[in-house]
Parts: sequence; structure tokens; C-alpha cells
Amino acid sequence: MIICKKISEVREIIKEQRSQGRSIALVPTMGYLHEGHLTLVEEAKKSGAFVVMSIFVNPLQFGPNEDFARYPRDLERDAQKAEGAGVHLIFNPEVEEMYPSKNLTHVEVNELGDSLCGASRPGHFRGVTTVVSKLFHIVQPDRAYFGQKDYQQYLIIRQMVMDLNFPIEVIGVPIVREKDGLALSSRNIYLSPEQRAEALVLQRSLGKAENWIRQGDRSAQSIEERIKELIRNESSGEIDYVEIRSAENLRRVEQIEGKVLIALAVRFGSTRLIDNKVLEEM
Ligand code: PAJ
Repeated sequence: MIICKKISEVREIIKEQRSQGRSIALVPTMGYLHEGHLTLVEEAKKSGAFVVMSIFVNPLQFGPNEDFARYPRDLERDAQKAEGAGVHLIFNPEVEEMYPSKNLTHVEVNELGDSLCGASRPGHFRGVTTVVSKLFHIVQPDRAYFGQKDYQQYLIIRQMVMDLNFPIEVIGVPIVREKDGLALSSRNIYLSPEQRAEALVLQRSLGKAENWIRQGDRSAQSIEERIKELIRNESSGEIDYVEIRSAENLRRVEQIEGKVLIALAVRFGSTRLIDNKVLEEM
């Protein structure tokens, strides 16, 4: 496995791989790798491609009061895990390599980025789409892999690829969870043991919501309220949002039908966790 810090080195290696007829797969991450990230790699490996993983904590997608400075970083540990999973190249640039001057060009997807996490984290998705565009131009992959844990991010990237004609197939990978149901996240290490136990309410409420819907409660507002009540009753979590939306375009739905997304964001202390469930063909 090769670790590159420089864009020029990555370009050189990709060119070489291409000349040998190899296709290229990209798994963008911010590091502190866990099974969720490694599942994306596993999917990427299936295609037989040369697998590139980027590890870059992107300052552009963090708000001024967010956790950019304390976001966990451990390249040595990540390199071991990535190599074990079969990554061929890690691209781990410094901030100055990605943003050598004031970043005057941004990429922004309208509408899809306005709601849910976009509403609570202004500028976040603009930072994501800007850095992912840069990674796409640097690596020029045939396929790129994104987790559905960040469902809104996945939809936004898909839209960007379509709108800007990137010749890239975007592949969405289902959420990977701990045995007890907590969705894996690099931020889970911030949780105290009590918060970690309380956070299970997220997955539990998504499961209950699905039951309520299947039992006939088709009002999005009613289900949202029932989820909020459950979270308040069973944890000290502070709700950021609980929303049911179309899983195709994130528009609000009143009656639950078709393919819907139940998305939630809840704070435990200073740690904000997200989780979601997609219900097909309701
Ligand atoms: P990061 O949070 O490191 O996540 C990298 C990728 O792993 C994302 O596509 C995310 O959805 C996926 N992922 C994380 N936890 C997962 C889980 N439990 N199950 C399945 N997939 C999971 O998302 C980002 O980084 C950044 O915004 C990035 C796209 C790299 C741009 O900076």
C-alpha cells in the first residue's frame, strides 16, 4: 500500500494504473477508520479496481463551533486497517495541499442541501461537495463509494455527479452497525459509557417507527411526534431533528407512501449523532 501526501504523486500513480487497463475506485473518508469505512472498501474491492482511499479532515465542512480541531486523527492506525482491508493507495493531503489559497470556488447543490443536516449545519454540504469534487478531479475514479449512514450526503453527491457530468458511478452502501444496533461513527468515541448506552434509543426508535407505520399510522407528523416522545422519555438526548421525507428527493411528505426516509439527529452532551432508516415501497 502506498501513502501519498501530494496531488501530483496521486496523479502519477493513477496514470500508471490506467495505462495498465485498471479501473479506479475511490472511498473518500475523514479517517479514524471503523467497520463502516472498511465495508465501503470491501464493496470497492469487488470490482477488481485499484482502490484509493482519501483520508482528509476537511476544514471546509466544519462550522466555526464544530469539532474540526478535536476530530480524531490517527494515520498509523488507519493505514494498518486500510492495508488489511486491501486499499492500494491512501491519499492523505495536508490542508495546504488541498487549499493552498483562499478557496474562491465552491460547489453547491441546491435544495437537497437545505434541509435536515444542511439546516442545522449551514455551509456543511457546500464544504462536502467542494472537497468531493476536488477528490473526483484528482483521483478520476470510475466508481466512488458512500455510506447511507449519511443518506443526505449520498443523495447530494449523486445529484452533483449527475448535474456536473462527472463520469463516475456513485455507489451507496447500507449502514453498518455495532452488534447492539448503534450505527458506527468516528464520533462514537466521544460518548461516555452512559451516553453510549442511551444512544441506542436512535436505532430503537427507528425500528418502532417502522412498526407503527406498518400497523397503519401513515401520518408523517404523527410518527415524527411519536419518535420524539420516545427519545425524550428514554434518554437525555437533545433532539436536533426527527423528520420523515421522500427518500428520492428529501421533500416533505404528509402521508407516508412510496420510498421514505426517517432521519434523525440527536445530541448526547456535545456529541451529535445521526441515524436513519429507508422504507421501500410503503
Ligand atoms: P466520514 O464521516 O469519514 O465517512 C466516510 C464514508 O464512510 C462516508 O461515505 C460515510 O457515509 C461512510 N460511513 C460512515 N459510517 C458508516 C456506517 N456506520 N455505515 C456505512 N457507512 C458509513 O462522510 C465523510 O467522512 C465526509 O463528509 C467525506 C465524504 C469524506 C467528505 O469530506
